Amino acid sequence: MNDPNPKAARRATATVGAEAVQRCILPSCGASYGIREQIYVCPRCGGPLEIDCALEAVKQARDLPTLWESRAASRDPRDRSGVWRYRELLPFDDRAPIVTLFEGNTPLYEAPRGAKYAGLSALHLKHQGCNPTSSFKDTGMTVAVTQAALLGARTVVCASTGNTAASLAAYAARAELQCAILLPQGQISSAKLAQSMDYGAIVCEIAGNFDDCMRLIGELADEPFIYIANSINPFRIEGQKTVAFEILQQCEWRVPDHVVVPGGNMGNSSALGKGFDEMLRLGLTVRLPKLSVIQAEGAAPLAHLFASLESKGATDCEDFPDQIDFVQHPRTLATAIKIGAPVSWKKALRAVLRSHGSIITVTEQEIADAKAIIGRDGIGCEPASATTVAGIRKLVGAGKIRAEESVIAVLTGHVLKDPDYVSNYHRGTLSFGLTEQGGAPKPPHITGAFRNAPEKIAASKNAILESLERRR
Ligand code: F0G
Repeated sequence: MNDPNPKAARRATATVGAEAVQRCILPSCGASYGIREQIYVCPRCGGPLEIDCALEAVKQARDLPTLWESRAASRDPRDRSGVWRYRELLPFDDRAPIVTLFEGNTPLYEAPRGAKYAGLSALHLKHQGCNPTSSFKDTGMTVAVTQAALLGARTVVCASTGNTAASLAAYAARAELQCAILLPQGQISSAKLAQSMDYGAIVCEIAGNFDDCMRLIGELADEPFIYIANSINPFRIEGQKTVAFEILQQCEWRVPDHVVVPGGNMGNSSALGKGFDEMLRLGLTVRLPKLSVIQAEGAAPLAHLFASLESKGATDCEDFPDQIDFVQHPRTLATAIKIGAPVSWKKALRAVLRSHGSIITVTEQEIADAKAIIGRDGIGCEPASATTVAGIRKLVGAGKIRAEESVIAVLTGHVLKDPDYVSNYHRGTLSFGLTEQGGAPKPPHITGAFRNAPEKIAASKNAILESLERRR
């Protein structure tokens, strides 16, 4: 087996990425910058940047699916990575010292119980929790850390609700870079925190929430030796967009009707939107899947904006608003998406509007029950990921998804990312009781419709058989 050491992966890559530029997405600006400039937002207007991969320079795009498919059996580290396999559409040239843990290549599962629960004939789950650090962040991090290494960064830094941190810590360790992560104190699952400690990151527990950590990232971004790895960084998005390519490859290039993702800081939805858009522009597909984003009710600034656009009948235009009301005190037990001021909301909104998808909210109860149903299909995910199945059920109920349409939910994190939540749900002790300021308890417990608590049983064969009989 090849060693996934980055040094071993220093091989030639035949990409068209040399022509790529960084471009401001705002139609009023559109300024472009060199691909190796260390910037995160447009220096001219402060708008979000994305990588323009110069798709018009891609030769014989029609041959790409066959080329990508042929790499499946290769032992070359670049081919074994489910991100670098698509390197023709990544902004790097032949000499890029790629930093890979063989990310991507995640399964697309059929989920019959989930389908029934959501009111669909069939449902597929794209399990991004099957990545090396057990979340979807790895597909972006391999690219961002490769760019950091190319730029000669000394230290990589991110703000995180836990998964970005674990992923960055791992890839920084592979690249032998110093890594510092900013986490909202006491608001991170212990499993995610444990990963970051293990991978050797400097763990800064900040007295504040995720949005405070993001504000600090904005201040640190001025330091030239620091490289920021949050999804505001367009290189993260480049890696994550390849998930759209992998989904299409797994669907044998038949475009699904709907792709549904959770929404937090909005990098993932932006990335999938970009990936599907690039496939359409290259003529490899004939339409976009409808991309829908699901937010937790207590942390849903973009869903609120979308609802107001819908009520004004303004979801059909690309002329999206430039103001959003952020949520000052986001609340949800799905800590991964406990975010009130998502940095990539403009990119995500553009992707949803272009594809005619939706942005909606789901309640804590809906998230918890959907999570348990996903578990019953033998799959399992973390709470934030389960917003998808809860959201699909609502969209089916509202007639926005039809029962016979093809639907893919993107599960973003592994079930073991938040074992306390899972255990509390099944034992009936999951509580959304206190407000962040320690205020009056709301309805304290989530009554799980699919609880499965352990049973204390005498050490006898008969007792076990009785228990099996009772639960037949
Ligand atoms: N699901 C999981 C499991 C996540 O960890 C995140 C984000 C999301 C969904 C939302 O994705 O931010 O791209 O819209 N986690 C970030 C983190 C914020 O720091 O780990 P998004």
